Amino acid sequence: MCGIIGVLGSHEAAPLMVEALRRLEYRGYDSAGIATVQDGRLDRRRAVGKLVNLSDLLVHQPLAGKAGIGHTRWATHGGPEIRNAHPHRAGGVAVVHNGIIENFRELRADLAADGYHQESDTDTEAVALLAQRELDRGATPVEAANRTLDRLEGAFALCFLFDGEEDLIVAARKGSPLAIGRGEDEMFIGSDAIALAPLTDRITYLEEGDRAVVTRAGAQIFDAGGRRANRAETRVRLDSARIEKGGHRHFMAKEIAEQPVVMADALRHYTGGGTHRLTLPEGLDFAATDRVVLVACGTASYACHVAKYWFEQIAGLPAEIDIASEFRYRDPVLSPASTAIFVSQSGETADTLAALRHARDKVARVVSVVNVPTSSIARESDLALPIMAGVEVGVASTKAFTCQLVVLALMALKAGLDRGRITETELAARLDALSALPGLANAALSLSDPVARIAGDLAKARDILFLGRGAMYPMALEGALKLKEISYIHAEGYASGELKHGPIALIDPQVPVIVMAPMDGLFDKTVSNMQEVMARGGKVLLLSDAKGVEAAGPGTWQSLTLPAVDPHWAPILYAIPAQLLAYHTAIAKGTDVDQPRNLAKSVTVE
Ligand code: AGP
Repeated sequence: MCGIIGVLGSHEAAPLMVEALRRLEYRGYDSAGIATVQDGRLDRRRAVGKLVNLSDLLVHQPLAGKAGIGHTRWATHGGPEIRNAHPHRAGGVAVVHNGIIENFRELRADLAADGYHQESDTDTEAVALLAQRELDRGATPVEAANRTLDRLEGAFALCFLFDGEEDLIVAARKGSPLAIGRGEDEMFIGSDAIALAPLTDRITYLEEGDRAVVTRAGAQIFDAGGRRANRAETRVRLDSARIEKGGHRHFMAKEIAEQPVVMADALRHYTGGGTHRLTLPEGLDFAATDRVVLVACGTASYACHVAKYWFEQIAGLPAEIDIASEFRYRDPVLSPASTAIFVSQSGETADTLAALRHARDKVARVVSVVNVPTSSIARESDLALPIMAGVEVGVASTKAFTCQLVVLALMALKAGLDRGRITETELAARLDALSALPGLANAALSLSDPVARIAGDLAKARDILFLGRGAMYPMALEGALKLKEISYIHAEGYASGELKHGPIALIDPQVPVIVMAPMDGLFDKTVSNMQEVMARGGKVLLLSDAKGVEAAGPGTWQSLTLPAVDPHWAPILYAIPAQLLAYHTAIAKGTDVDQPRNLAKSVTVE
């Protein structure tokens, strides 16, 4: 996905846009660029790579103007080269875009037939050329933008800037989020409130299909049918201190460290602060639900996978899980008595949003578990449960994951209560165990130093396996994802019992095997799988509690001792050493922890 900013300001736009793009860099950092209009003349600067390269360029080749648009890119069509960087320009119009124009090849051919030829490999340049062709045909800038938008198929958040227009930006939203910020005789447009935070807290989110004609006097918003629309303006106060790194070396380190606090926030939000009461939204009643269907991508999908065990073991409620990019293509059998649950940190993941839209008229209720309550997934759900994790900037999801697990655990307990599978007394006991987690997480964070000492060896590995049984199996999958996505080492998660059905052929002294095994009912079986690995020279790093480490006996390469935890909630606690292993291994490898190669924080393209 990409980041977009637009400014109609009373000060020079370039520095404001660069600062906003810095806050959007988590969305993509293959290239960046800005365009402004100064004395009626449109001009632009673009640079490949991180935003700092654009900043450097602007020092040597400054760009004046109080009206501008800017962009930070995660490449979809066309490699990260200067010619593919946004803003794209055609004569007197510049555009910045987040999303995918699915019919751009057809548009490109149509334009070429009229003599409008692309220089880049991108879909976005076709948008600029279309608008220029309309201008050449005598359209006004707003007419040119609207006629262009009428031709586009696919998903887009777009801003148009025109030669000679120092008080006009046309914006449009279809499938990718876009927000408008109001200042004092200034107006702003951004991909999200984080980008606009330094400029204003008065935010209006465009709805699906909206278009906006923005001047310093305000924004005229039109809905998908072309009718004037009034969209609510909200005050979005983001504590910028929390957006910064808080003294940590990386956002990921800060967000790992914040988990005890934000997990406690999530618990307090839904249990009235330790009163053994569940204060989940009224409409969340599982009594009549025949099944839950849990759908997400990546780390969020592993949260769903853990929750499957909880819904079935605590509530006796059948729980199906699916990765969003597969869900709608398998023609899932959905029943009108089912509850579909979509989990997403950003609330903008295109695959998850598309899965939600596929399910919403086939199930009784759509519930989302999100970190951004104003996001598309939240707004298109019947019920949206915020996870209270606070802004998560690091591309590798950490605190959002554990907060997703906390909320899903509370939902499973609610289901157990609604279905008469647990009593109020049992609920109180489970909530007590859950409320102990922030403290236990704090203790687990002290593993950071021993993990850092192990990381040097892990960083030398070519392959790493993670093993777990029961609800620790999805934790093995999550541990492998965390590690691979920021250290670039190939890692795989396996169900411990599955090893002997093939993967054990991978075992040799060069392949570290990380076994996630709290002392629970499956511990003994997991330890015997671990013995099978060690018998073949495999080097095992055991994650367990003191009793488990002792019971496993000698022979492991390394072990990390976690606090004892209620077996039901162990996956939440064991996320922390998995995150620390990934973080310190990435540091040992020298990779970019917060902005790993090829990735973006939220993937708003399918
Ligand atoms: C997690 O570390 C990854 N960055 C990625 O798998 C992420 O969880 C996935 O893209 C889903 O994102 P979402 O939670 O914002 O929907």
